[in-house]
Amino acid sequence: MLFKQQALLRQKLFVLGSLAIGSLLYLVARVGSLDRLQPLCPIDGRFGSRSQDEIPLRALQFKRGLLHEFRKGNATKEQIRLHNLVQQLPKAIIIGVRKGGTRALLEMLNLHPAVVKASQEIHFFDNDENYAKGIEWYRKKMPFSYPHQITIEKSPAYFITEEVPERIYKMNSSIKLLIIVREPTTRAISDYTQVLEGKERKNKTYYKFEKLAIDPNTCEVNTKYKAVRTSIYTKHLERWLKYFPIEQFHIVDGDRLITEPLPELQLVEKFLNLPPRISQYNLYFNATRGFYCLRFNIVFNKCLAGSKGRIHPEVDTSVITKLRKFFHPFNQKFYQITGRTFNWP
Ligand code: A3P
Repeated sequence: MLFKQQALLRQKLFVLGSLAIGSLLYLVARVGSLDRLQPLCPIDGRFGSRSQDEIPLRALQFKRGLLHEFRKGNATKEQIRLHNLVQQLPKAIIIGVRKGGTRALLEMLNLHPAVVKASQEIHFFDNDENYAKGIEWYRKKMPFSYPHQITIEKSPAYFITEEVPERIYKMNSSIKLLIIVREPTTRAISDYTQVLEGKERKNKTYYKFEKLAIDPNTCEVNTKYKAVRTSIYTKHLERWLKYFPIEQFHIVDGDRLITEPLPELQLVEKFLNLPPRISQYNLYFNATRGFYCLRFNIVFNKCLAGSKGRIHPEVDTSVITKLRKFFHPFNQKFYQITGRTFNWP
């Protein structure tokens, strides 16, 4: 009798224990995934009409896995139709600036449940060969998404390439354009560092930054050097303004995105008319990397690749001073046009 009672008690305890563990696991998974996967609240503004379809919560984890499969190209046509997935043209593009923090910005925006990123730089508008393949080719390069989500791509070469503004305008004259900038001299050195690393990888030698940035004949800033030209932000922006009003641009402070990403991302959410969903939970400082990394949920987090955040070579201070002086009037003009002022020297 006593033995029977003990067995019954053990059985009850086992059932209760399983229930408690099950609930705990459910709660943990929910806290981790809810922020990213919850059906969206309205996204107003220029993005036009939205599907009001809501994704039932219990199916979200499953659907997320599915979206991943679709991105890998493993979905059948039937599955795509069933889940109402589409490959949408971007509603916003990060057009530059190279080495401004374009990858960090795209990855961080992708934390938002309404945003789906095109992982690769597509180079549709700046590459004549790609552009000749037509808009459907471009669309097919986009990831699958739910109709209420927006697709964002980034190709930093767009900002400085002559033909791009007109081409983008022809695709969508009301598209939103994101430009992430850093203090121009630092950006130029970062640009140089990337090229230098490429040369070193191929066992090639390369000039010192000082030699490229300063014209040895005039001792003035070498405006033919691409890394210098790219940092004259106002010159490039003026070309874009022939096609798009300034309201269609949002300037992101790339230096602040490094040290304090959340407020910068909140400004972008506002600009894109997205409900504020990216939180401090999604961003954590990784002391080893020396940068903020991304937390999607309790199990999935990531830092950017090691090619982001390189150590810059030391540059002669007189060259830095010369460059800063050179960029100064262009920066003033840039502040004036964009309405966003930076503490650049
Ligand atoms: P450096 O390598 O000069 O430090 P892009 O993606 O446009 O090429 O920009 C690269 C820059 O992004 C890096 O330049 C780095 O400073 C900056 N960045 C901003 N946020 C970052 C982050 N969270 N992790 C790594 N790099 C980040």
